[in-house]
Amino acid sequence: MKLQSLALLSSVVLVSANWAKNLNYRSPSDHHPSLGISIHKVVKRNDPSSAWDPTKLNFTHGVASGDPYPNSVILWTRVGPSSDNDKSNVTVSGYVPLYNHDTDEYVTVSKAPVCVEWKIATDKALKNVASSGKVYTSSDIDYTVKVEACSLKPYTTYYYQFNVCNSKNVSPLGRTKTTPNPDDEVTNVGIAVYSCSNFPFGFFNAYGNPVRKDSVDYVIHLGDYIYEYKNGDYGWGQTIGRVPLPNKEIYSLYDYRKRLATYRTDLDLLASHQQFPWIPVWDDHEVSDNTYRDGASELNNTEASFVKDGGVSVDQRKMNAVRAYFEWMPIRQVEMDDNLRIWRSFSIGKLFDLIMLDTRQYDRSITDLYWNTDYVHAISNDAGRSMMGSRQENWFYNQLSESAKRGAAWRIVGSQTVFSRLNESVAYGNVNPLDYDAWDGYQSNRNRTLSHLYDNGISNNVFISGDSHASWVSDVAWLDNKAYNPATGNGAIGVEFAGSAVSSPCPYGANISMALAHNATQWLVAANSELQWSDLYYRGYYELHISAEQVEARYFGLPIIIFRNNYEISLANFTVKSGANKLTRPVGGGVVESGTLKTGKTVQTNLTVDTGNKTYFISHYDLAVL
Ligand SMILES: *[C@@H]1O[C@H](CO)[C@@H](O)[C@H](O)[C@H]1NC(C)=O
Ligand SMILES: *[C@@H]1O[C@H](CO)[C@@H](O)[C@H](O)[C@H]1NC(C)=O
Ligand SMILES: *[C@@H]1O[C@H](CO)[C@@H](O)[C@H](O)[C@H]1NC(C)=O
Ligand SMILES: *[C@@H]1O[C@H](CO)[C@@H](O)[C@H](O)[C@H]1NC(C)=O
Ligand SMILES: *[C@@H]1O[C@H](CO)[C@@H](O)[C@H](O)[C@H]1NC(C)=O
Ligand SMILES: *[C@@H]1O[C@H](CO)[C@@H](O)[C@H](O)[C@H]1NC(C)=O
Ligand SMILES: *[C@@H]1O[C@H](CO)[C@@H](O)[C@H](O)[C@H]1NC(C)=O
Ligand SMILES: *[C@@H]1O[C@H](CO)[C@@H](O)[C@H](O)[C@H]1NC(C)=O
Ligand SMILES: *[C@@H]1O[C@H](CO)[C@@H](O)[C@H](O)[C@H]1NC(C)=O
Ligand SMILES: *[C@@H]1O[C@H](CO)[C@@H](O)[C@H](O)[C@H]1NC(C)=O
Repeated sequence: MKLQSLALLSSVVLVSANWAKNLNYRSPSDHHPSLGISIHKVVKRNDPSSAWDPTKLNFTHGVASGDPYPNSVILWTRVGPSSDNDKSNVTVSGYVPLYNHDTDEYVTVSKAPVCVEWKIATDKALKNVASSGKVYTSSDIDYTVKVEACSLKPYTTYYYQFNVCNSKNVSPLGRTKTTPNPDDEVTNVGIAVYSCSNFPFGFFNAYGNPVRKDSVDYVIHLGDYIYEYKNGDYGWGQTIGRVPLPNKEIYSLYDYRKRLATYRTDLDLLASHQQFPWIPVWDDHEVSDNTYRDGASELNNTEASFVKDGGVSVDQRKMNAVRAYFEWMPIRQVEMDDNLRIWRSFSIGKLFDLIMLDTRQYDRSITDLYWNTDYVHAISNDAGRSMMGSRQENWFYNQLSESAKRGAAWRIVGSQTVFSRLNESVAYGNVNPLDYDAWDGYQSNRNRTLSHLYDNGISNNVFISGDSHASWVSDVAWLDNKAYNPATGNGAIGVEFAGSAVSSPCPYGANISMALAHNATQWLVAANSELQWSDLYYRGYYELHISAEQVEARYFGLPIIIFRNNYEISLANFTVKSGANKLTRPVGGGVVESGTLKTGKTVQTNLTVDTGNKTYFISHYDLAVL
């Protein structure tokens, strides 16, 4: 996972190191040079001596940090003359035409670069500086700034800030934290786990609550950080003042930049990025719905037709999405010699290894594209199918073995979709009762994972997953292969915590009533032997609190997301003891606030929430305004 220098960059480093140190000029992959910017050309076009008047520039979208290592972390900001995004696009030759939407033509206007300084320190006053630097940004990369702050101490809290060079125009103050050295003994590490944040479906209050509680060390996002849709096609943003821009389905580089920028106006999302280092991966909607290696549902293509549709080739759209994602997310570009690789791992002391998979974009065999569900069902047990591709699969199994060998107490596996088998015939009918877009459509890949864990006696595995917009807590069992006892959990090899959405709607119906949601989870929990708790009603997130002895999962439901607020409900808590490889019994302590436990009860506490102007009575059956 080391950063490798690009041949392209080494030749221009002599020209100006300050350009190259802004990582966003790079392509995320050597194999896709068109995703990078020829710094040489930018340098020639831009004359640093004619830089912007600092008072004409704004830090438009806060600050962010991410991909922490023991000695370094990625820092991010955006500073430019406008909060609007850049309309240029990146071309294969590296030549960057600027597109003027008003005159509808390409222009070659020379735009001055923006000079930015940054520093990171152990104190809020930024006196005790550990590292600092100076970089340029420009319209070519949408005025984003992404730097690696090095020479840091392990497992240490830092504060950082950017400023426009030679001025007092400063960014907000950010806070971040490095990871421990792999051999360090650490305990009580907290992570907040998110997925599926859809701007027009609600406010991202879920992101803000761990900030207000200051309850975790790191934030994990398992994907669907943005959605590509037009408002109205998916979402009711006009009724809550959250129409995502541009208000159309997104295709171009400008579209993806604009969409990310719109999401980054949510105050709770900004607060989370400002306070916590993030470790995100993408799911499908960062590009488009139900993507796989060669296409996506909207293109209705097959592995044989890796081509254009509606004037946009899958490749170009994906490249636009990827370029914008790397510009806007505080992540590293790992393994430059690989193919748009985002899968990567983090060692958090001797406590755990976090293995972040890309089960979506990298090398996934054909998925459910809605018209081919019968076909994908028919092939779902084919040995040749993979969600990850063989290169990533081999890496994954090696990571699990290496982690066990080095004696890390836990292996936490970040997966986009739900890992456990989930019979949902109650919703989908009996012909195709499973979600073939999740691991259920790639059974051999799941079997290979399970067999690697069982055959090698690898213990203490925690799968974390998203995508489904609902909460599912299971023992990880190899059903129909290894004996598993749902009452005791014996026979399992780990646990799965699948989380609900930040705001995306319940899959059993947007605005579903508590009664109907509860009715459905009763069926689901009864029909799936390894599923120990499920809730469909609440949007939310969960926190994992990890020590060598146990992992505790705390699920939170967000009762109101139609406006910004800090209300949350503790839905359920789960514990996994080291060596047990199953949920502690009684699961959930035998009592949860919402949803259905396989064994235990649900006790609802009605809430009255006074927002100052209105009092909301949350009966857990419906949200009523008093
Ligand atoms: C920059 O920020 C200032 C102060 O918040 C605001 O008045 C101004 O309109 C902003 N300029 C741009 C280009 O966004
Ligand atoms: C470049 O921008 C133009 C105008 O916005 C757009 O029509 C075109 O599709 C874009 N090309 C790419 C590769 O995004
Ligand atoms: C997608 O392609 C399949 C197979 O060719 C076809 O049956 C189906 O009608 C197509 N669907 C759409 C929406 O074009
Ligand atoms: C799903 O559950 C239904 C109802 O219990 C059952 O008839 C069906 O066989 C199950 N399907 C699978 C694939 O487990
Ligand atoms: C995977 O394991 C299941 C048992 O859980 C078995 O029914 C299935 O045939 C296996 N598939 C493959 C491809 O190994
Ligand atoms: C669901 O609730 C939202 C927000 O209150 C509302 O705009 C939307 O119309 C509702 N949808 C349905 C299907 O009732
Ligand atoms: C409740 O769930 C059962 C399946 O267990 C289903 O047959 C029934 O229609 C559901 N009731 C409602 C009101 O949706
Ligand atoms: C979960 O644990 C917290 C303490 O950490 C407690 O306050 C909360 O009530 C518990 N929630 C449930 C549903 O038991
Ligand atoms: C309460 O009402 C005031 C005045 O109409 C308004 O400014 C404020 O935003 C409202 N607060 C909430 C939480 O709705
Ligand atoms: C919660 O509110 C519902 C609906 O009004 C009511 O039926 C129920 O008894 C209340 N539960 C408690 C514990 O007060």
